[in-house]
Amino acid sequence: MMDWTDRHCRYLHRLLSQEALLYTEMVTAPALVRGGALHLLDHSVEEHPVALQLGGSDPAELAEAARLGGQAGYDEINLNCGCPSDRVQSGAFGAVLMKSPDLVAECVAAMQAKVDVEVTVKCRIGVDDQDPQEVLPGFIAAIAAAGCKRVTIHARKAWLKGLSPKENRDIPPLDYDIVHQMKAEFPALHISINGGITSLDQVVEHLDRGLDGVMVGRAAYHQPSDILCAADRRIYGTGEVSDPVEVVAQMLGYIDDEMAKGARLHQITRHMLGLFAGRPGARNWRRVLSEGASRPGAGTELVEAALQQVTGQAA
Ligand SMILES: Cc1cc2nc3c(=O)[nH]c(=O)nc-3n(C[C@H](O)[C@H](O)[C@H](O)COP(=O)(O)O)c2cc1C
Repeated sequence: MMDWTDRHCRYLHRLLSQEALLYTEMVTAPALVRGGALHLLDHSVEEHPVALQLGGSDPAELAEAARLGGQAGYDEINLNCGCPSDRVQSGAFGAVLMKSPDLVAECVAAMQAKVDVEVTVKCRIGVDDQDPQEVLPGFIAAIAAAGCKRVTIHARKAWLKGLSPKENRDIPPLDYDIVHQMKAEFPALHISINGGITSLDQVVEHLDRGLDGVMVGRAAYHQPSDILCAADRRIYGTGEVSDPVEVVAQMLGYIDDEMAKGARLHQITRHMLGLFAGRPGARNWRRVLSEGASRPGAGTELVEAALQQVTGQAA
């Protein structure tokens, strides 16, 4: 998620769950290939498994961006066909690509030819006045024929005119059934559902109904402990339920290292504000961090002080 799931956020989320597949923010192929912005590929080895999401619509440029992503060590390269923002529409990529399945198929094939890891697609169920029942099966058939074996479907349309990107994540109605229908029509494909899923119970429901994966966006960001702490045990059947208090303690070394390399405290702690959502002390935890993390000289002692609001003792 752009501006949210940066490398600091992913490092935190990986401490909460060893198994969940994490995604980068969308990185545009032009920024990598024409702009040479290779720093956008930076990540820590601890983040794996991690997928690089690319935005673009030029097959050759996306192929080169995918190659760079593969070279940088990402475990999967994902093509964004779901982002509705104006900026992205003007570049003719994101959700507007739902109207051009053949071009998307060409992009997928070109990308897959350049990397050993899987090229996957994230899409909507349609855009504007498209009828999802008419267009979605054709879109999925086209990308599958091009070699895509995994697709994540955000279960709502994007309305490209008149809604902000934020509204486009809430206002077009969710249609989970059509995603389940796609799994029935394309049983060999790995199909994940996305959109409005806010608990592990809901995740389990979708998996029990036959889907292969569930992508959780905003809830995983705002209440990371609710979604990620028990994910390894409940969803993957491995590992322990992680403890956010221990995770904060584990973050301290990372924060010191990153600050020594030039990061500012708040760039890391902003992703930690929701760690104790719903627990006693959560409000004070959030307040201490958000008030103090931008102050000059603020460091890990602030995080320890904030943690005391939750535990009553220093980490
Ligand atoms: C701040 C923000 C940035 C986002 N950036 C991206 C992005 O870069 N790529 C993408 O595929 N989806 C992006 N999304 C959409 C989410 O991945 C997801 O599809 C959407 O929020 C619906 O799922 P949710 O209800 O679980 O959040 C973004 C969402 C938010 C809130």
